[in-house]
Amino acid sequence: ARGVRRCEASLASDYTKASEVADLDWENLGFGIVQTDYMYITKCGQDGNFSEGEMIPFGPIALNPSSGVLNYGQGLFEGLKAYRTTDDSILLFRPEENALRMRIGAERMCMPAPSVEQFVDAVKQTVLANKRWVPPTGKGSLYIRPLLMGSGAVLGLAPAPEYTFIIFVSPVGNYFKEGLAPINLIVEDKFHRATPGGTGSVKTIGNYASVLMAQKIAKEKGYSDVLYLDAVHKKYLEEVSSCNIFVVKGNVISTPAVKGTILPGITRKSIIDVALSKGFQVEERLVSVDELLEADEVFCTGTAVVVSPVGSITYQGKRVEYAGNKGVGVVSQQLYTSLTSLQMGQAEDWLGWTVQL
Ligand code: COI
Repeated sequence: ARGVRRCEASLASDYTKASEVADLDWENLGFGIVQTDYMYITKCGQDGNFSEGEMIPFGPIALNPSSGVLNYGQGLFEGLKAYRTTDDSILLFRPEENALRMRIGAERMCMPAPSVEQFVDAVKQTVLANKRWVPPTGKGSLYIRPLLMGSGAVLGLAPAPEYTFIIFVSPVGNYFKEGLAPINLIVEDKFHRATPGGTGSVKTIGNYASVLMAQKIAKEKGYSDVLYLDAVHKKYLEEVSSCNIFVVKGNVISTPAVKGTILPGITRKSIIDVALSKGFQVEERLVSVDELLEADEVFCTGTAVVVSPVGSITYQGKRVEYAGNKGVGVVSQQLYTSLTSLQMGQAEDWLGWTVQL
C-alpha cells in the first residue's frame, strides 16, 4: 500500500528473525492479558530525561509502596494496536498520535513524558521483540499498552521524584463479549465520568477506576457498558467507559465535541476523517441524550473496541433499538470496514496513517 511509512532498520534487528507465530488458541482471543516475551522499560529522575530504555522479560516490577502512582494515582496509559498483514509484515496505526496524547496528558498530571521519537521507537522495539505474539491476519491484533507512572517515593502530596515508562503488549481479539455483534448500553444518570476542569480529556488511570462501579452495576443488569452524560446539565452525551460515541441520522454523523471532559480518541479522530472522505457530514457538537431516540444508528469507537455498533440504549427505563438489534447498521459497517482495511494494510493508505515494521 502506498503511503505506508517504513520502520528504520536500526532497531531490535535481533528480534525480527522470529517470524513464527506463538502457540496460542488464535480462534478464541478475547480482550484479556496474555503473557508475552518482553517489555520495554525506561526511567527518569527530576531532570525529566528518560534513559535509553531496555527490553526486559515481561513480568512484575518492583515499586516503592510510597510511589506517586500507588498513593496518589499519578499515572497515564495509552493504547494502540499492531496488525499482521497477509504478506507477514506488521503495521502500526498512527503511533505518533499516542505519543503526543501522552505528552499532553503528562503535562496535566505534572509528569515528564518521553519524546514522540522515543515513544514511537520504544513501541516499534516492543512489537518487534514480541513479533510472534502478533495474531495471524484476521485473528486479531497485538494490543500495545504504554504506561507512564510516578514511581518515585512521596508521602506528602507532590509530583513523584522519579518516573517509569513501560510498554507491554498482549494479543487481543474483540473487546466486548458480543464480538462484532451490536452492544447494549445503559445511559448513566447518577454517576459521572468527568467534570469540567477535571482530567476527563487525558488518559489518566484514575478515570478508569472511577467508572468501574457504574460498569459493574450495568453488567449485572445485562448491559455491555455505560454511556455517561455531562455532569453539569445531565443532558449531553459524553462517552462510554472505554470508548467514544457517534450518532447517525441520515447523512449526518454527530459526536460529542472534545472540550475537556471527553477523551480525544485517535480512532474517533480517524473515523471522522474516514466519514468525511466517504461524503458524510460530520458534526462535533453538544449531542443531547434525546437525539438517541431519533437516531438511525449509534456506534462506539476506540482502539480496543475499534468500531462497535450499538444495538440498544436504555435511558430512564426506556429502551431504544437500532437496526432491530440484530444487524449491524450500514453506516457503522461501512466505517468499520474502511478503517480496519486501512489498519490491516488491505486498502491503500492514502492518508499515511500506518507504519510498517
Ligand atoms: C483503548 O481503547 O485502548 C483503551 O485504552 C480503553 C481501555 C479501557 C481498554
